[in-house]
Amino acid sequence: MTQTDKDRVLIFDTTLRDGEQSPGATMSHNEKMEIATLLDEMGVDIIEAGFPIASIGDFEAVSEIAKLAKTATICGLARANIGDIDRCWEAVKHAKSPRIHTFIGTSPLHRAIPNLDMDQMAERIHDTVTHARNLCDNVQWSPMDATRTEHDYLCRVVEIAIKAGATTINIPDTVGYTIPRESAELIEMLRNRVPGADDIIFATHCHNDLGMATANALAAVEAGARQIECTINGLGERAGNTALEEVVMALKIRHDRMPFGTKIDTTKIMNISRRVAQVAGFPVQYNKAIVGKNAFAHESGIHQDGMLKNAETFEIMRPQDVGLSGTSLPLGKHSGRAALRAKLDELGFALADNQLKDVFVRFKELADRKKEVFDEDLMALLRDSGAAE
Ligand code: KIV
Ligand code: ZN
Repeated sequence: MTQTDKDRVLIFDTTLRDGEQSPGATMSHNEKMEIATLLDEMGVDIIEAGFPIASIGDFEAVSEIAKLAKTATICGLARANIGDIDRCWEAVKHAKSPRIHTFIGTSPLHRAIPNLDMDQMAERIHDTVTHARNLCDNVQWSPMDATRTEHDYLCRVVEIAIKAGATTINIPDTVGYTIPRESAELIEMLRNRVPGADDIIFATHCHNDLGMATANALAAVEAGARQIECTINGLGERAGNTALEEVVMALKIRHDRMPFGTKIDTTKIMNISRRVAQVAGFPVQYNKAIVGKNAFAHESGIHQDGMLKNAETFEIMRPQDVGLSGTSLPLGKHSGRAALRAKLDELGFALADNQLKDVFVRFKELADRKKEVFDEDLMALLRDSGAAE
């Protein structure tokens, strides 16, 4: 199927910026280069490589990633001031395709921090986006805490940013406060009310405080957003950001209802997930969607039997599509005879029915004492029962 730009969702990965802001997730320079290379190779459209004004290390990492990226646009983050924006440009300008991402908090709570009134903030947005656009053709602007900003004011500042030259308008749910229908309505409202909205791309940037980051991002896409901001494993501030692997696989698997494509090579998901978990020091929870150890594992007898007959019985996607070699059927106390037989076949033991019956009883006894029965346990059990001779 050919895909028009209208049907394409850009994947903006911010593992190296918002992800790294997660307390304790700091990555070394070399680790960042490795992750950036993997993101570029897997087909991420835009890599937010860091916050260049934050430290010399961040500046150097963004500059080097800008030089090494082969296809991805390289983006740096900047607050709404000239110093941040100039520093950001110095770092990203080496990229084949650079982007400046500048932001300011627009909700009442966030406006109070720099002590700007609505008009003063509007002027600041105009001046800083204009400055960024004079440096770079590709400018993203974000009204931080957009989901708690008054609608009229949000429309007003988005219009100002578009007129000043922003090419992408990102709508952050900074504190993970929104819900799916509201996320969609916000994008719809901006597209309907803001002059010039048809000429730019709307992005969605969701946090997971209520566990809805993926649902909110997808709802925004259904309402017309065409860039999803996300991180590998959902790494990010507090409860994290939208997980890249979740939105990408949801768009792939539910293409029937969400007919939008990405250019991510999904077979590279598992590898990058493992590397990010290692370098950030954030293990992936076992039952995490797509990349958790148990995401393609089935222990209960009914499920294992179904899986052995037809994998689609209990799996909606192929493990190979995310870079795994196959489904796993760990043996435990819920497992049945079919899975035990399959495992014994795999180990090279074709037992007669009466032998299997005996081994199955011993296996269940063992499984009651042990969480998981491994190959070595089975071998010992076969030896003890005389079936391995
Ligand atoms: O969550 C947020 O609002 C952000 C902005 C800097 C885009 O990360
Ligand atoms: Zn964020």
